[in-house]
Amino acid sequence: MDVDDVAGRLGVPVEEVDRVHRLAGDRPSAPLPARADAPTLLDRLAVRPDDAAEILAAWPDPGSPLWTPELRWLLDRSTALVRADLGGHAWLAPGPALPRDRGPAWRHLYVYAYLALVDAVRAYHRDHDVPDDVSWATLADLGNNLAVDRRMNGDGWPVMQSWLTLHVRGGLYELGRLQHQRGDGGAIGLHIPDSGPLTPEAVDASLERARAFFPRHFPGEHYTAFSCGSWLLDPQLREYLPEDSNIIRFQRRFTLEPHQEQDTPDGDVEVLRFVFRSLSTPLDRLPRRTALQRAVIDHMRAGRHWQWRQGRFPM
Ligand SMILES: CC(C)(COP(=O)(O)OP(=O)(O)OC[C@H]1O[C@@H](n2cnc3c(N)ncnc32)[C@H](O)[C@@H]1OP(=O)(O)O)[C@@H](O)C(=O)NCCC(=O)NCCS
Repeated sequence: MDVDDVAGRLGVPVEEVDRVHRLAGDRPSAPLPARADAPTLLDRLAVRPDDAAEILAAWPDPGSPLWTPELRWLLDRSTALVRADLGGHAWLAPGPALPRDRGPAWRHLYVYAYLALVDAVRAYHRDHDVPDDVSWATLADLGNNLAVDRRMNGDGWPVMQSWLTLHVRGGLYELGRLQHQRGDGGAIGLHIPDSGPLTPEAVDASLERARAFFPRHFPGEHYTAFSCGSWLLDPQLREYLPEDSNIIRFQRRFTLEPHQEQDTPDGDVEVLRFVFRSLSTPLDRLPRRTALQRAVIDHMRAGRHWQWRQGRFPM
């Protein structure tokens, strides 16, 4: 395959195809599960029926007319790229963002790569004695992400396709309320899925599980802190939310690093993503149902901006 040709046919920058070509090299890919097993697998991964139906309908069977040679090339090489970093825990782009409106194969290409990697990461989990319930709870974030992406009309996917490579490389574990990402610098990175209130009790229980989990399953790694990077840590939220709200109580656990605008996500975009699940609705058409929604809109209409902040606390 010629990278210029692939990039042209996919309608994406040639540098990004070249990156896939270089990182994947001729490393092994991984086969997709048999289509007959796919409905059960998708169900285990919490994929909702509407998303599952689309994924099954565009299954990359040999000979499927939906799967042109360049799409097959990208699926194969992207899977190899992610697989080559099994055990890695940094963010990793699996390949270029695709024009997803060109059809279900385009829309779900990185989902098929995820499904192809489930066996490999399950074996990695077994090598680390990760219990089955943790393994499946972690991998089932796929379904949640697809559901959110559907709500966001596809706007969520460019971030999600990189985020989900953490799950299939064994870089991240869901332990109760929080997801815990193995990290450098002695810190476990905390992530907060969209799964109900962030009560202090649920957070405490999840941290307690992590304190036991990592020394036991990753004894070669030494962690002394929890860290987090999020819009949830923006201290400006204290101007709007009560002291006993879950978000403010979560914030109080952390010592913040100085605000850095460069090389961090845009705070306004992240707040819109997680509070409204829309990046494009004008401010005056967004719902004002909760205290936070009203705060976000009023803050931005006053010409102010939200911050994506990083912080940590000792383990
Ligand atoms: C983190 C999260 C669970 C906190 O929710 P919570 O426990 O209800 O938080 P609080 O108790 O602090 O809520 C205070 C107020 O803000 C509202 N609120 C909190 N999170 C909200 C959200 N994502 N969207 C809309 N309103 C929200 C609450 O309803 C409450 O308002 P009310 O008193 O008018 O009902 C929630 O924001 C969420 O699910 N976020 C999505 C995931 C996320 O942002 N992850 C971090 C990515 S970097």
